[in-house]
Amino acid sequence: MNEAIRIDLPDGRGYNIQAGPIDWLPDALAEIGLQGPGCIIVTDKNVDDLYGSRLRSILHESGWDPSTVVLPPGEETKSDQYLRRIQDRALSAGIDRRTPLLAFGGGVTGDVGGFAAATLLRGIPLVQIPTTVIAQVDSAIGGKTGINHAVGKNLIGAFYQPRLVHVDTSLLATLPDREYRSGLAEAVKHALIADVDLFEWIRRNWNSILEREQTVTAELVRRAAAIKASVVSRDELETGLREILNFGHTFAHALELALGYGTLTHGEAVFIGMRAATFLSSHLYPDANFERVRAFLARIDVPIVPGSVTPGRLGDAMKSDKKKRGSELRFVVLEAPGSATVVSGVDASLVEAAWREGLGRS
Ligand SMILES: NC(=O)c1ccc[n+]([C@@H]2O[C@H](COP(=O)([O-])OP(=O)(O)OC[C@H]3O[C@@H](n4cnc5c(N)ncnc54)[C@H](O)[C@@H]3O)[C@@H](O)[C@H]2O)c1
Ligand SMILES: [Zn+2]
Repeated sequence: MNEAIRIDLPDGRGYNIQAGPIDWLPDALAEIGLQGPGCIIVTDKNVDDLYGSRLRSILHESGWDPSTVVLPPGEETKSDQYLRRIQDRALSAGIDRRTPLLAFGGGVTGDVGGFAAATLLRGIPLVQIPTTVIAQVDSAIGGKTGINHAVGKNLIGAFYQPRLVHVDTSLLATLPDREYRSGLAEAVKHALIADVDLFEWIRRNWNSILEREQTVTAELVRRAAAIKASVVSRDELETGLREILNFGHTFAHALELALGYGTLTHGEAVFIGMRAATFLSSHLYPDANFERVRAFLARIDVPIVPGSVTPGRLGDAMKSDKKKRGSELRFVVLEAPGSATVVSGVDASLVEAAWREGLGRS
């Protein structure tokens, strides 16, 4: 098996992020002491149509007897209605506290499935099997689970760590192009906040990445996931360091809010947000060289934001960002490519200029 990435947590807890075909899953489950026959697969309709029967037959061959809960695809599924559906199905299947829940899908499946695992019998073993780029490099790692509320996204949830994250990058071949490209935003983000060598590698390999060359995609996912793993190992409950994972996100959330969720994908908003945040960085740290980052981000293809969405409107949307603390907005910026920090009290005119660069209107 490929070498796993290890996440070490306080009190001797921890788990592996392991790469390989889903055929290896039964061995991986056995290695961490999870035993059948019962298990619950939570997935969505798209993933189930593509890979559900393959996963079930892999499990059957090793003596497992899975029950599958198939959810509708989309962000609306992160709701109490579908959380309850998973709970109902798991309880009627007769689970006990050792029955694993396998969250097989993108970030939506992982978030709602993970939260269901946290709540069932006060916690049943959770295994994340992420199938999108976002999920493989970001959402399946680190234990944030939850659902949305009418008041805002991700407001109901729990920190609940998986027992294993099993990553099969060959599953990414069927992702729609827009989903695939959007997911790359989080991988680029991880490089920019923590690993300048990875950023340079991404820059050099960008065309192969977009063409989904197997070995290149696998390396990108492995290295980007390792960064997330390292950050969450050091700050499991987001009391400090973990905030750097929000690079580009103060801008991105404002844009998503102003445009209405679903106009841009989250990743597209993050690419625009990272352009803006890099502009801020270059003004706050004029001695560092951001030219290659700016040039790289500038050539990434994202939809044009309508002119009616002005930096002023976006500034207002920013203020309602739930990540703001106290009365001042906080921004994750780069002291240099590969090294992030958090600032507040940034001058409003500088933020406006950053918006212009982010939106390509400078
Ligand atoms: N928990 C965290 O730390 C964290 C971090 C980042 C994002 N998130 C959450 O993740 C969600 C976004 O994740 P996402 O982009 O993976 O969304 P998603 O789960 O909705 O997946 C995107 C789309 O791709 C489809 N799909 C999934 N895998 C596929 C495959 N292999 N082939 C073809 N189609 C496939 C899905 O059916 C869906 O239509 C958001 O709800 C966000 O809040 C959570
Ligand atoms: Zn994000």
